Amino acid sequence: MDTSTNGPTTMLSADDEAARDALVGRLFEAALGTFDLAALHIGERLGLYPALAEGPRTAPELAAATGTAPRYIREWLEQQAVTGILTVDDTDAGEDERRYSLPNGHREVLLHPESLAFTAPLARAMMGIAAQASRLLDVYRTGEGLSWEAYGADIREAQASMNRPLFANLLGPEWLAGIPDIDARLRADPPARVADIAVGGGWSAIALARAYPKILVDGLDLDPSSIEMARANLATTEVADRVTFSLRDAADPGLAGPYDLVTIFEAVHDFSQPVAVLRAVRNLLAPGASLLVADERVAEEFTAPGDAVERFMYGFSFLVCLPNVLADDPSAGTGTVMRPDVLRRFAAEAGFSRLDVLPIEADFWRFYRLVK
Ligand SMILES: C[S@@+](CC[C@H](N)C(=O)[O-])C[C@H]1O[C@@H](n2cnc3c(N)ncnc32)[C@H](O)[C@@H]1O
Repeated sequence: MDTSTNGPTTMLSADDEAARDALVGRLFEAALGTFDLAALHIGERLGLYPALAEGPRTAPELAAATGTAPRYIREWLEQQAVTGILTVDDTDAGEDERRYSLPNGHREVLLHPESLAFTAPLARAMMGIAAQASRLLDVYRTGEGLSWEAYGADIREAQASMNRPLFANLLGPEWLAGIPDIDARLRADPPARVADIAVGGGWSAIALARAYPKILVDGLDLDPSSIEMARANLATTEVADRVTFSLRDAADPGLAGPYDLVTIFEAVHDFSQPVAVLRAVRNLLAPGASLLVADERVAEEFTAPGDAVERFMYGFSFLVCLPNVLADDPSAGTGTVMRPDVLRRFAAEAGFSRLDVLPIEADFWRFYRLVK
């Protein structure tokens, strides 16, 4: 190996030095952020935040309340206070006497699963990804994939939890309300039938049924653990009589309609056979019905450097969605960064006559309406 590039032998201009120092600072901040997410993961998985939400706790009290080890909990609490996620009443008190509190303003972010501020699942997603580090190195060498199933519960549950607040708060009242003819059909008789494709944890189907009290929703997904999770989530709701979840491959040409609306949320880029799925979905549509696709709001074209959304989507793409979609062979190999023209091509190949980008405002998603 040529080691001449490893040492500080190159003469740097003032701009180069500024760029070097900026990168050092950026990576240090990234390390601090990574520690925050790892600590959040521990707090979330061990039920430390809900216990703190009940009132201020010392380390021994929190450990006793959560069945955890006091010495570890002391370290975790100190880290949380130092990083500013928890507050501490008296820094001078003995290490086992200090009381730690969860500030009011942080509760929604960490504990309220249907709040738009709920950001805790990001930690589970990132730690779930980190757990796959060695397998990711393998597939980057071999070109093989890593299936959704192989990523395990953390990624699957994080995915469902990250989108749940969006569905619960925005899907009916904002997004579908902004498409008057679809909104009207979902309120009309006879009760509309809706298919929610690649439904994951099921929160979109549940939110649809809650927003429109007449409709019947069939959610399907080919991942058995996701369907199990969706059914468990459904069992906690009051709409179980109008929602079903089935283990099905959406590319199966034998799927039966007709449906008055078909939805696909954040999943077309995950289909190894997107054209086959879109073709099967097209066959499910009743006359005049539409397919509503929500997928990532990435830029129309590759540009670098990109904005935060683009960076976020590339992050998920190179670590999750691309390896996931490459687990099938053959595969379209799309990845999270599915630009609008790529979907237009898939839709045309599947036989759709029209694709409109809808004027719905959403930070992370772009909405497309496809008609037969
Ligand atoms: C990123 S997740 C999105 C899940 C859900 N729509 C949401 O918004 O949380 C993608 C989902 O697509 C599902 N999926 C991928 N290919 C599929 C196929 N051919 N048929 C049905 N589901 C599929 C995966 O199992 C996974 O649950």
